[in-house]
Amino acid sequence: MRALQALLLLIALLAAPTVAQAQLTQSPGPNSPTTKEQVPLYVPQTDKLVGRVSIPDEKLGVLVQPQGRDWREFRSQTLQLTIGGFAIGMTAILAAFFLYRGTIRIHGGKAGRLVLRFNGLDRFAHWTTAVSFLAMALTGAILTFGRPLLIPLIGHPAFTALAETSKSIHNYVSVPFIVGLVMIMALWLRDNLPEKSDWLWIKSAGGLFTKAGGKHPEAGRFNAGQKGVFWGIVLGGLGMTATGWLMMVPFAVTGIGGMQILHVIHGLLAAVLIAVVIGHIYIGTIGMEGAFDAMGRGEVDEAWAIEHHRRWYEEQLRKGYVEGRPGGHAGDRQPAE
Ligand code: HEM
Repeated sequence: MRALQALLLLIALLAAPTVAQAQLTQSPGPNSPTTKEQVPLYVPQTDKLVGRVSIPDEKLGVLVQPQGRDWREFRSQTLQLTIGGFAIGMTAILAAFFLYRGTIRIHGGKAGRLVLRFNGLDRFAHWTTAVSFLAMALTGAILTFGRPLLIPLIGHPAFTALAETSKSIHNYVSVPFIVGLVMIMALWLRDNLPEKSDWLWIKSAGGLFTKAGGKHPEAGRFNAGQKGVFWGIVLGGLGMTATGWLMMVPFAVTGIGGMQILHVIHGLLAAVLIAVVIGHIYIGTIGMEGAFDAMGRGEVDEAWAIEHHRRWYEEQLRKGYVEGRPGGHAGDRQPAE
């Protein structure tokens, strides 16, 4: 009797999966509930593999997006090589130029009379933009190069804290950056519009390769090189802010592919702007005697003004903004409009 019971139990166990399978594969009648097989697992898409999800956030159904592999390659290699290459390349060019030319001196020395070049508002706008840009460049570099360069040095926990702080600074400082940028545009845009004489400046490469004694091309308030820096920083800065702010609100405006494109544009603009700013800082400090004073105390030596911006100097002179010339001390005056 016990043997018969065991045999019946064994038969029941072996039959069970087959019965269950048969129930599942039976085609449902008109009123029977939808079966698993009737629901397609994947939603057809040409460019990605999207699963079906029943939660409201449908983008979470994306299982594989092949372009994501290209983006990851860009994020973990191409971007680092591009930013690093541009920054190191520019520094190497400037080092070679410095060896060739040294600090560009004021021919015949300083005159000792001052000309007001940038007033307090100009300098506030400049340093707001400059300090914000440098803070964002540094924190952006920590985020870009942290994995290969910093984690081996400081370890994962310390890098996590550093990366989180960097990300917050990077996001918040974009606000003073854009405030500075808008002020710069309002204050200096008119003097940075292209004019015929810019072409002469460009043809002679701004006299940069003409050593002592060479004739310096004339310029107004800003020469063609400075205009290039101005437009590069203004247009590049606006592009970086737009792409950065769109990335701060993920998926609000665009999907996963759009987010990747925004990131690529943001990264490539950063590479170009960092190189431009390295060149700008060089010429504003060790590259040219007397240049830093313009943005430091706001006044430049008369000889510097005549040599680098003769037409602007003559305007200042006419308006009586040159110290010791009819009209009084430059510092008491307003700069050129
Ligand atoms: C330590 C860093 C910096 C130094 C020493 C510096 C120095 C200067 C100086 C001396 C000028 C006046 C040149 C003249 O007399 O016309 C100037 C102008 C300017 N700076 Fe800077 N700057 C620095 C960083 C920056 C940064 C980070 C930005 C923007 C991202 C910036 C944007 C500008 C612009 C748009 C102008 C006007 C165009 C020009 O003169 O090239 N500067 N800067």
